[in-house]
Amino acid sequence: MRKVKLGLLGLGTVGSGVLKVLRQNAEMIKRSEGLDINVGWVLVRDKSKKRAVEIDPSVLTTDAQVILNDPEVDLVAEFMGGEEPAFTYIREALKKGKSVVTANKEVIAKHGDVLEREAEKSGAGLYFEASVAGGIPIIKTIKRSLQANHILKFMGIINGTTNYILTRMSEEGSDFNAVLKEAQRLGYAEPDPTADIEGLDAKFKLSILSTICFRNQVPLENVYCEGITKVTAEDITYAQQLGYGIKLLAIGKKNGNRIEARVHPTFIPLSHPLCAVRDVYNAIFLEGDAVGNLMFYGRGAGDLPTASAVVSDIITACQNQGGYHHRTGMDQEDVIFEQNWVSRYYVRMLVYDRPGVLGEIAGLFGKHGVSLESVIQKNRGDDASLIFITHEAHEQFMVRALEDMKGCTAISSIESMIRVER
Ligand code: NAP
Ligand code: HSE
Repeated sequence: MRKVKLGLLGLGTVGSGVLKVLRQNAEMIKRSEGLDINVGWVLVRDKSKKRAVEIDPSVLTTDAQVILNDPEVDLVAEFMGGEEPAFTYIREALKKGKSVVTANKEVIAKHGDVLEREAEKSGAGLYFEASVAGGIPIIKTIKRSLQANHILKFMGIINGTTNYILTRMSEEGSDFNAVLKEAQRLGYAEPDPTADIEGLDAKFKLSILSTICFRNQVPLENVYCEGITKVTAEDITYAQQLGYGIKLLAIGKKNGNRIEARVHPTFIPLSHPLCAVRDVYNAIFLEGDAVGNLMFYGRGAGDLPTASAVVSDIITACQNQGGYHHRTGMDQEDVIFEQNWVSRYYVRMLVYDRPGVLGEIAGLFGKHGVSLESVIQKNRGDDASLIFITHEAHEQFMVRALEDMKGCTAISSIESMIRVER
């Protein structure tokens, strides 16, 4: 039996979940993993705050150095959130040779390469399973079970809060802000929920996931990002009438040395397995050149699901001491980050309903090489809307077509443009 002393940074939703799992499964972890894991210190901002778990006040500290400088602390687990001071603390721990487990996607997306190098120098390990898709063991699976494959593409629902919001809006017609408040109450949302609804949280996760899948650093500045704040009840209704659901999808593709990474609201057919992923659940649908299609499904946020990933990393870190595999397997090819990807599009516009309008607008799409698959007119007169689904077109052609339409007197406003995946 090996005794391990842990230092925890943070005791909010995730930190409390980690303590619960370590306590409720302590005997099993001792028996089957040979590890007696003890929490030596817990860093918080406010020691007097009421906690979701019982905690001995003598282990609480507001001074990170107490943990980082304790030679008996074998391993540091971080769930404070935010870039700083989390990045600095993780880096200091690694420098001192302490392995680190983190749920912090912002730190890994922005500084993962620097931290990996730091870990390599000191021989410590860096583990971040919980940073992507909460309880789904996706990172370990790609690194340790899919090494025999080139991952060609993946599509994922990797933000629980937005999936929860879109599900409630689609199924119950609920109000956006009311559902967001509920997601915050349930502990799904980020401390600042703008990161969820504007797609930033999914962007961090997509950068991490594509880096691991494509064995090349995919920096945040090369990840396209659009959140769900512009998705309206009308778009959801029209999507359903056309046979689609709307999901915030994170899409990664690699073709030769071209990598595409984008997160945005997406129409997907109601029959697609990702469309059945409801509430806070996450799912990742990926294709490997040997294995073919795989789908992973589970809770993407919340205390216990996230703690499942964190505690698994803690156990792996204890067992791997001295044997951590760094990112030496990265290809580091001369990669081109694709911005002009190919997609189909849904476009909804308000128009002045008069003869010839449809022809005029179809002509503008055609002028920019965008071909139309279907069109529906809703209402008449001043209330008329046109809803288009296009065939596959290059993003830049589509953007130019919509730009050109701003000068078209037949259109009163372009209300939405949402990408469509099969
Ligand atoms: P949270 O509930 O806001 O908890 C944050 C904790 O960190 C609190 O205990 C807070 O102390 C402490 N903390 C924050 N800044 C600090 C500072 N400067 N010094 C000392 N303590 C500090 O956040 P969370 O939801 O647990 O999320 C934590 C991390 O896990 C984030 O990176 C998040 O993205 C990631 N994550 C969250 C989930 C989820 O479902 N919530 C899932 C996967 C990953 P006080 O309590 O004293 O204020
Ligand atoms: N706020 C994140 C989400 C937590 O809603 O998915 C999990 O990373």
